[in-house]
Amino acid sequence: MNISIRHTLLLIMLAAFLGACRGQPSEKPPIHTQYNMYWQERFNAHQENPFFEDRRAMRMPVEGTVARGHLENDLAFFQGINDDGSYVERMPVDMTRSFLKQGQHQYNVFCTACHGGVGDGNGPVSDYGYIAASLLTENARNMPDGEIYSAIYNGVRTMNSYRHQIKAEDRWAIVAYVRALQLSQDAGEEDLRELDLDPEKFASGTQP
Ligand code: HEC
Repeated sequence: MNISIRHTLLLIMLAAFLGACRGQPSEKPPIHTQYNMYWQERFNAHQENPFFEDRRAMRMPVEGTVARGHLENDLAFFQGINDDGSYVERMPVDMTRSFLKQGQHQYNVFCTACHGGVGDGNGPVSDYGYIAASLLTENARNMPDGEIYSAIYNGVRTMNSYRHQIKAEDRWAIVAYVRALQLSQDAGEEDLRELDLDPEKFASGTQP
């Protein structure tokens, strides 16, 4: 190849290479040789659609539609009640140490502020004059598990529902932990001996 052809070729390549640099953004729409799915015959969310009487492009789901994974037809598990509407006596979940731990964590996140770390109703908000119920009363101890669950799911009197913040399994874990608090805060000497703990040492604080 003679030298001038080689130079010309190099020059053309350089020009093509530099020509690809734009230097500043362009206002012009890009040229599409291949459309892919850039333009589709479809409506965007909230767009008007004259086809329907209400002119909404977004349609309401058919009545009774249940989102996938949200069937929640197990009343005992999801609402804490039996078919006749009464509270379930015992929680429908197996109790394990890790489940209780899970409940402790969730309780501390969602309930402690008002009901206090041990459930006596003296949470930090009580410093500001807000009084939450104690969960250690005779009344609360005698509640069926489902009633405590329902307090979380439906709320109770002036207490709000926490169903949207806490998922079903965690609600039961909290119920389990509230039960543990009720037991621990009402432990008698017999209970301590059963666990090989010395009540006297326990009272003097030398045994944890
Ligand atoms: C914002 C404060 C607040 C939070 C957070 C809160 N509660 Fe309550 N709770 C209350 C108040 C106030 C009452 C008493 C309602 C009434 O009697 O009007 C109550 C009542 C209850 C009762 C009924 C007690 C009884 O003897 O009737 C239960 C059970 C209960 N709460 C459980 C829980 C659990 C479990 C959580 C955590 C998921 C929780 N609460 C979170 C304020 C709170």
